[in-house]
Amino acid sequence: MNKKYVIAFDQGTTSTRTIVFDEKGAIVSISQKELKQYYPQPGWVEHDALEIYNDQLETFNQAVSDSGINPKDIAAIGITNQRETTVVWDRETGKPIHKAIVWLDKRTTDICKNIEDKGLSNYIKKNTGLVIDSYFSGTKLKWILDYVKGAQDKAEAGQLMFGTIDSWLIYKFTNGKKHVTDHTNASRTMIYNIKKLDWDKKLLNELNIPQSLLPKVQTSSSDFGTIDYKGNKIPIYGVAGDQQSALFGQGGFEAGIAKSTFGTGCFILLNTGTKQVKSKKGLLTTLTCSLDSEPINYALEGSVFAGGASIQWLRDRMKIIENVSDTEAICNSIPPLKNVYVVPAFAGLGAPHWDGKAKGSIYGMTLDTGREELIKATVEALAYQTKDVIGAMEKDSNKKMVTLKVDGGASTNNYLMQFQSDLLNVEVDRPKMIEVTAFGAALLAGIKAGIWTKKDIAQIREIDTVFTPKMDKKTRKNKYKGWKKAIKRTKRK
Ligand code: G3P
Repeated sequence: MNKKYVIAFDQGTTSTRTIVFDEKGAIVSISQKELKQYYPQPGWVEHDALEIYNDQLETFNQAVSDSGINPKDIAAIGITNQRETTVVWDRETGKPIHKAIVWLDKRTTDICKNIEDKGLSNYIKKNTGLVIDSYFSGTKLKWILDYVKGAQDKAEAGQLMFGTIDSWLIYKFTNGKKHVTDHTNASRTMIYNIKKLDWDKKLLNELNIPQSLLPKVQTSSSDFGTIDYKGNKIPIYGVAGDQQSALFGQGGFEAGIAKSTFGTGCFILLNTGTKQVKSKKGLLTTLTCSLDSEPINYALEGSVFAGGASIQWLRDRMKIIENVSDTEAICNSIPPLKNVYVVPAFAGLGAPHWDGKAKGSIYGMTLDTGREELIKATVEALAYQTKDVIGAMEKDSNKKMVTLKVDGGASTNNYLMQFQSDLLNVEVDRPKMIEVTAFGAALLAGIKAGIWTKKDIAQIREIDTVFTPKMDKKTRKNKYKGWKKAIKRTKRK
């Protein structure tokens, strides 16, 4: 077979990347561009959707040229993306009518409060699997319709289109021919019914969102349209939100498999099989990557808003580290912390606490607390937040977790991974190739193109390290007790 390469577009919150994979699942080339963040007001975060498209195209060109492959040999493209981030564009001109509102953006807190006051919490939980929060696309879309002059009228006249970043990229790369998304992205909008697998009419009504705005929802491994790349027709055969893509790329096809991606945020997903588990502990129920031949699976998800972002904060705002990668050596250079906790609630607290008003806080400082202690406590906060989520998952699913599969930038930090294993008292399994998010999308596309089957993951996914718990029970208990106290003091709700 000549067509043996699969390309992944990985459009994340802070960067846009293209990765070329060969038929063994090995990386041939990567091209990456940092994405500009816009903060027009405190709590607001925006991206420029056109910049995202241009960056994606630029990295695509670069990755193909660096790989030295012939574009004719590209079998398919998979797209994975930051989820929930909302774009609305004009059907006629194809131009966005507002900057993309990023998942971290908190401007719709009041809209959320109104929805809550209407008594819709239970309905939303039951039918979308989500909690009412500004995190999801539905209220961001409503905000654009409410606040951009003339938008609601235009929407009602069928002149606008809405999409998450996947839809937007597909629309642009197919020259406006396709307005589509997949199950995983749709399940993050708060207007998609995950039981009926359809847009939820009642919620569209409540939010005053005309259905004509919405993309068609497809299975994650299916035909999303064709890119004309320098005269070569390349199909887009895979689409998934980045966290579900990572679960798929880790081989999380079956119930009981969990992964945590340590990216800008930390996202922990547990596949719960074909039955929708309703969380009693503040977790979300979401759809996993779907294949045409198989029934859809559900997952429990816990999202921690500030993961790697808090380490970047140490670098960019506090300016107490030069490189994120320095943190491992710093953590190892000092003795275990005595009750110093950083609660990085910079964008509120996500699962399982859901407190949009909480702010970042530091506890337990004494005169001997210095730079190293602050750094170590910030790194450890990623592990504590992950434990909060996994504890909730264990209670909801009534099962004890045995292994946690990890990926994402901060999973290369050995100190953090060991601490995570110690704190959870479970094995932490890190694969050699940590580009699991991109690989998940490539796998979805490669399956549709007939290059791989799900079973090939066993050969492709090689283990790098399995971290095993070394901390004694009493220390574990005391440390976590201190964290819980810090969380309690941080909460505003
Ligand atoms: O839900 C938000 C998530 O998809 C963003 O992921 O990797 O861009 O931080 P990431």
